[in-house]
Amino acid sequence: MSNTTPKRHLWRDIHVFDGLRTLPESMAVITEGSRVASLVAMREFDEGLAEGCIDMGRGGVMTPGLVDCHTHLVFGGSRADEFEARLEGVSYEEIVRRGGGILSTVTATREASEDVLLELAKPRLQALIADGVTTVEIKSGYGLTVEDEVKMLRVARRLGEALPVRVVTTLLGAHALPPEFQDDSDGYIDLVCQEMVPAVAREGLADAVDVFCEKIAFSVVQCERVFEAAEAHGLPIKAHAEQLSNLGGTAMAARHGALSADHIEYLDEAGIAAMRDAGSVAVILPGAFHTLRETQQPPIAALRAAGVPMAVATDANPGSSPLFMPTLMLNLACTLFRLTPQEALAGMTAHGASALGLKEEGRIHEGAIADLCIWDIDTPAALAYAVQPGRLRQRLFQGELTHAV
Ligand code: NIG
Ligand code: FE
Repeated sequence: MSNTTPKRHLWRDIHVFDGLRTLPESMAVITEGSRVASLVAMREFDEGLAEGCIDMGRGGVMTPGLVDCHTHLVFGGSRADEFEARLEGVSYEEIVRRGGGILSTVTATREASEDVLLELAKPRLQALIADGVTTVEIKSGYGLTVEDEVKMLRVARRLGEALPVRVVTTLLGAHALPPEFQDDSDGYIDLVCQEMVPAVAREGLADAVDVFCEKIAFSVVQCERVFEAAEAHGLPIKAHAEQLSNLGGTAMAARHGALSADHIEYLDEAGIAAMRDAGSVAVILPGAFHTLRETQQPPIAALRAAGVPMAVATDANPGSSPLFMPTLMLNLACTLFRLTPQEALAGMTAHGASALGLKEEGRIHEGAIADLCIWDIDTPAALAYAVQPGRLRQRLFQGELTHAV
């Protein structure tokens, strides 16, 4: 028989942020195989435990592998021209009305083959991995035909096979109205409900279903139909809601038990109460707020007071958030929205995992999955404080060292 003894890694004198809080003492951490085996205060550490362990060094900060719970990483084309137009004062809504915005990415994504989309997405995902991500959600939503949405989700699944990262996929068929359905948005929603959702459910290609509930996208009534179709196929739901106006999409999504409502700059008290009652996660996306030069702040203090968990994600996409750096989002969540550094970090670990319906990821405790980042910093807050690539000393994915400097 081959040697099946699982590998053991040991860190000494390390500050641990466990997904929700920073542990009060300097710790020793041991992983065994794909799990965290022991987590002990340094002053109680017995050197006998070190036997058989690979010495991974001393000092620094350990966090769970980062969870980026909202991205649109698979797409064709570029929207640099639109960036320039927006700088000249053309609004995001106006660009969409002119047939640009999401639809320009739809054209380029439809034209690209599955293999081309995979190659385009790889470096984007590698950038997230290099910044500490071990779990990433990837949405469709730039295909808008059954075939092209399926193609995008296949690319997302293949990314998870090609790179050392857990990929969670989301069908976002109701992202924008495709040109073929220009005057028939209900007809397009019929297609999403009757063909798209069943097709991706049949092939096991989506872990959840998302919608864009907005004046420039789909109404609350239309989004609710998509949720009913998702429910009929046993798929959890989430929503882009209250990003540009307050339509009540979040409250409706919460009534359907949404995992999360995302953006939510315009969310009101009723929406916050609905999220609290449903246990939905508020996904805060400072990259889109920053890129769109939004001025309406998400209701952070009210969410905090209501005890609604807040996640933080990149929303990495070619239009509203061409920002592929999760740790920058920690910084922006603090500087733009006044999250505390601990809240921001919890938002990209434990609460990010909750926004994906994952109970095990994004946390460090004995028995946890050994998705871990070790950073060359003194305190967890420093991760949000400075925007400084290169501080990731080690990254483990399911107990395997995938990055070391
Ligand atoms: O999350 N809000 C809608 N969807 C994306 C934008 C996608 C795009 O502009 O291509 C978002 O911001
Ligand atoms: Fe988004």
